[in-house]
Amino acid sequence: RVDHAIRPRRLTDYIGQAGVREQLDIFITAARGRDESLDHTLVFGPPGLGKTTLANIIATEMEVDIKSTSGPVLERAGDLAAMLTNLQPGDVLFIDEIHRLSPVVEEVLYPAMEDFQLDIVIGEGPAARSIKLDLPRFTLVGATTRAGLLTSPLRDRFGIVQRLEFYSIEELTEIVARSARLLGVEADRDGATEIARRARGTPRIANRLLRRVRDFAEVRGDGRLDAEIADRALNMLHVDRHGLDHMDRRLLLAMIEKFDGGPVGVDSLAAAISEERDTIEDVIEPYLIQQGFMMRTARGRVVTRSAYLHFGLAADDSVPQTS
Ligand code: ADE
Repeated sequence: RVDHAIRPRRLTDYIGQAGVREQLDIFITAARGRDESLDHTLVFGPPGLGKTTLANIIATEMEVDIKSTSGPVLERAGDLAAMLTNLQPGDVLFIDEIHRLSPVVEEVLYPAMEDFQLDIVIGEGPAARSIKLDLPRFTLVGATTRAGLLTSPLRDRFGIVQRLEFYSIEELTEIVARSARLLGVEADRDGATEIARRARGTPRIANRLLRRVRDFAEVRGDGRLDAEIADRALNMLHVDRHGLDHMDRRLLLAMIEKFDGGPVGVDSLAAAISEERDTIEDVIEPYLIQQGFMMRTARGRVVTRSAYLHFGLAADDSVPQTS
C-alpha cells in the first residue's frame, strides 16, 4: 500500500473534523509555547476516520518521534515497559485499540501516565522485586472505536479527549480530489463527489474506492475519472447509491426478513449473518444508525422506514421513522 503517500502530515492538510482540528491546534500551540509535552490524548470514533493519521500529525506538529503499538500486541507488562523505556522526552506513544489492553498492562500504564513512573514487578515468589524507574515526559495517544469500551480509570487519565465523526460529502469530496491529485489521477468535481457520496462517510473507504475507480477508468475508459465512470465502477463493486455495501445490506435485510424489523438483540443478529458482534457494533452499524436506517433502543436494534424504502419494500404503520 502507498497510503503514506496520501495521508496528510500536518494539521493544515487535514480535511474535515473542524472542531477537533481547532482544539488540537490550540492545545499543541500552547504546549509548544510552554515547551512542554502535550497532555495525553484519547481519540475515538469508527474505523477509517483518521485516528492513526491524527496521532502521526500530533507527533509531527510537536516535532517529536512517534512509537506505535496496539492493545492486543502488548500481552505482558514487560512489553509495555519495553516501549516506555524506549521513549525520548516529549515523544508520542501511540496505542491503537487501547480498549484491548490486558488489566496487568493497564496497571503499568496508570503510574506511567500520571507520574511518568515505571512501576513493575520482576521475577516471582520470594525472588520477586519491585522496580521503579523515572520515565521521560511523553504523550500517550490512545485510539479506540468507542470511548465507552475503556475502563473509567484509564479514560480519566486522558487530559484531551476527541471524538471523530463521519465526514460530510463535501469534506469527502475534498479528500478524494486531494488524493486524486497526489495519485496523478485526472478527476473532475462530479467524479470526486460520486465517490464521496458512496464512501460511508469514511476517508479510508473513499481512498480505496478512488483506487478501484481509477483502475476501472484506465481499463474501461480513457483514464479520466468523471461521474459516469465512477457510477459504473461503483455499481460493479456493489456499492449502492447510498454507499451501502454488501455487509450493510445483509444486516438490514436480515433485520427485515428474519426479525420483522426488530427489536432484535445484537447477538441474535450476529448469529443470523455469521458476523462477529464487535464487527456489527464497531464497523457496520454506526454508519447505518447515523444515516437513519436503523436505531438502537433499550429492547434491541430496529430498522426504520428509510431502510424499507431503500429496498423498495412496503413498511406497515408500526415501523418507526428516524427519531
Ligand atoms: N486522508 C484521509 N483522511 C484525511 C483527512 N481527514 N484529510 C485529508 N486527507 C485525508
